[in-house]
Amino acid sequence: MKKAVSILILLLSLLATQTFAKKLDGKQLFQEYCWGCHHQTAQAFGPSFRNIANKRDKAQIIAQIADPNGTYKSLGYKINSMPAFDDLNSQELEALADYIYKFKDKK
Ligand code: HEC
Repeated sequence: MKKAVSILILLLSLLATQTFAKKLDGKQLFQEYCWGCHHQTAQAFGPSFRNIANKRDKAQIIAQIADPNGTYKSLGYKINSMPAFDDLNSQELEALADYIYKFKDKK
């Protein structure tokens, strides 16, 4: 009986980590929050992820997602048209930045 309980706990914790890992999938986050305005390689309302990855570093990207009002000027925009995603945690922001970097041109 004790063994069955510990196996059950093990299975439940495995399930929990899997659900957590899924939430940090950059592609999924992109589809949920960004796709309406950004596409991977084509210009949409906002610049493409390829374009962004080619000209920005990771810190700039993360700052822009979390606080576009604080960064748009330093990125060269006259006005900000992007909503702040200030409810995303640092792991989600990292996952999004990594996803954007997948579209960087190989030199
Ligand atoms: C409502 C539309 C909209 C949504 C949703 C949106 N963006 Fe943007 N984003 C823009 C626009 C437009 C710009 C260009 C700057 C400006 O005009 O404010 C931009 C700029 C950016 C930039 C900086 C571009 C540069 O020149 O380096 C990054 C990085 C970025 N967005 C990432 C994201 C990510 C990641 C998401 C999803 C979490 C997202 N955006 C969601 C509209 C949007």
